[in-house]
Amino acid sequence: MELCVALDLPSKKENLELAKLLKSEDVWLKVGLRSFIRDGKPLLEEIKAINPNFKIFLDLKIYDIPNTMADAAESMVSLGVDMFNVHASSGKEAMSLVMQRLSSVQNPPLVLAVTALTSFDENSFFAIYNEKIAKKAAQFAKDAYASGLNGVVCSVYESLLIKQETTSNFLTLTPGIRPNQEAQGDQKRVADVKMAREQKSDFIVVGRPIYQSGDPLGVTQKILEQI
Ligand code: C5P
Repeated sequence: MELCVALDLPSKKENLELAKLLKSEDVWLKVGLRSFIRDGKPLLEEIKAINPNFKIFLDLKIYDIPNTMADAAESMVSLGVDMFNVHASSGKEAMSLVMQRLSSVQNPPLVLAVTALTSFDENSFFAIYNEKIAKKAAQFAKDAYASGLNGVVCSVYESLLIKQETTSNFLTLTPGIRPNQEAQGDQKRVADVKMAREQKSDFIVVGRPIYQSGDPLGVTQKILEQI
């Protein structure tokens, strides 16, 4: 299991300070909507300048028509990121086209599909998808698997089921991790590191419990020990 630390801080300076603090740790860094919209490609370059071995997950969760998704995927590849994601609800045609465009790329990034956001509970999910979370997440995962993606984003609670419905090698990346029962914030389906390990999560994502703590390096090292 690997740790992805979310760089969701209010400024580029603060994100880079966190990256510097974690310079010697074996972590992935996740750049999401807030940071990428604000700071763009230079942020990615400055992260790599701190430590070229940092792996970067660009978490933009793209969702559009197939051709636009595939064009955007090519643009993300050209940024040199190591992993990016799309929404599984964009459908098999869009996901397959994304993977087709990546087929000629040497060392392509990992591509994951978002199934059910960890901020949904059953009621809020049902209101949109008219289905239970586990059932729909498993269906989305099967679509992503059939489209040639490397894995999915899901909660810890769907990780094992998704591996049973696809293969054990199909990656699960699970946000909503609260290592020490920290505040959930907007997250609804949360779990700790031990549970993520038991449920065979391949990557855990941790944001606020690290960057809002008084000791981000200490919290990170503790999580890495638990992993
Ligand atoms: O602060 P917290 O640990 O809740 O951060 C979780 C991170 O993972 C955020 O950057 C959020 O955008 C992202 N994420 C998520 N749920 C998903 C996909 C990504 O929480 N399904």
